[in-house]
Amino acid sequence: MSKKVNIDWENLGFDYIKTDYRYVSRWKDGKWDEGKLVEDNKLSISEASTALHYGQQCFEGLKAYRTKDGKIQLFRPDQNAKRLNKSCKRLLMPEIPEEKFIDACIQVVKANEHYVPPYGTGATLYIRPFVIGVGDNVGVKPAPEYLFCVFCVPVGPYFKGGLTPVNFTVSDYDRAAPEGTGGVKVGGNYAASLLPHELAVKKGFADCIYLDPSTHTKIEEVGAANFFGITKDDKFVTPKSPSILPSITKYSLMHVAKEYLGMEVEERDVYIDKLDEFKEAGACGTAAVITPIGGIEYKGDLHVFYSETEVGPVTKKLYDTLTGIQFGDVEAPEGWIV
Ligand code: COI
Repeated sequence: MSKKVNIDWENLGFDYIKTDYRYVSRWKDGKWDEGKLVEDNKLSISEASTALHYGQQCFEGLKAYRTKDGKIQLFRPDQNAKRLNKSCKRLLMPEIPEEKFIDACIQVVKANEHYVPPYGTGATLYIRPFVIGVGDNVGVKPAPEYLFCVFCVPVGPYFKGGLTPVNFTVSDYDRAAPEGTGGVKVGGNYAASLLPHELAVKKGFADCIYLDPSTHTKIEEVGAANFFGITKDDKFVTPKSPSILPSITKYSLMHVAKEYLGMEVEERDVYIDKLDEFKEAGACGTAAVITPIGGIEYKGDLHVFYSETEVGPVTKKLYDTLTGIQFGDVEAPEGWIV
C-alpha cells in the first residue's frame, strides 16, 4: 500500500467516503470516449438531463477484495458488465463494451489502492459503476449524451452486525411490476423502496420483504437483496420471477451450494405462508453478502427460522465458502476472479 489512510477498517459501515479518483467516460455522437480518472467527485450536467427527470439511469455494485498475500481481486466483474448492459438496453441507453467496463473498474481500484481494506478485517472496496442520460432534453425520449462513471468506497457490512441475524417484515407495497423494470438495476426500483424501507425500520425491522406484485403470495426480494432458504432436507431454494433483480451473489451461491457443498438447488416459487419448509433463511447480494434472516413478520406473526441471534450452520458454511473464494482462501471456479 503506497499511501496510508486513516480509516477504522473493523468498524466500517456502508457509508460514502470520498476516495481519491473516479472514472468518467462520455458517450456523444454515437460513441464512448476513452474515459479518464478524475479527482473531482462532482458531476456537472444539464438541468434537463433525462437521468434527473425520467430516471434514465442504471448502476452496478461489485467489490474488490484484499487477499492474505496482499493482492487485490475482483469477483466476477464480467457478470456485472453483462447485467449493466441489460439495464442499459431496457432504458435505451448505449451499452458499455465488457472490456471497457472491467478496465474502468480496475483503473479505479488501482488508483485508490490504499482504500482497499486489509485482509482479515472483513471489509472490502465497493465499486459503483453507473450510466446516466445527460444533455439538454425535455421531452420523454432518450438522452442525447450519456456518462459512464465508476467510483469506489471502502465498506463494512450492509446490515449492521454482518453475519448476525436480522428480522424483516413483509411490505404492503410492491417493488416492481411483473413485466416492469424489477429485473434490471435501475434507480427507480430503489427510489420506490425508500418509503417501505423507512416504514419497516420504524417498526423495528432491518428492512422489508416484497411479495410478487400480482398475487401477493410469493416472496420476491428482501430489501435491496435476494432471498434464499435452506429446506429441512438441505436444499438451497431461491425465488424465481422476472421482476427479481438477478443477483450475482445469489447465482454464485447456487453454484457454491451445488458444487462445493453438494446440496440440491432449486429456483422456484417460495410462498409466504409456507415458511415452515425452511430451517434457515438469508438475504444475499453484493452489499449484503449473506445476511442471515432471524425471522419474518407477516400479518402480525413473527416466523423465526434458525435463531434470532445466531447464524445457522448451513448459512455459515455458504458464507465461509463464498467469502473464502472472494478473499482468495478457497479455490475459485474458473473465470470468477480477476
Ligand atoms: C448491491 O448489492 O450492490 C446493491 O445493489 C445493493 C445496493 C443498492 C446497496
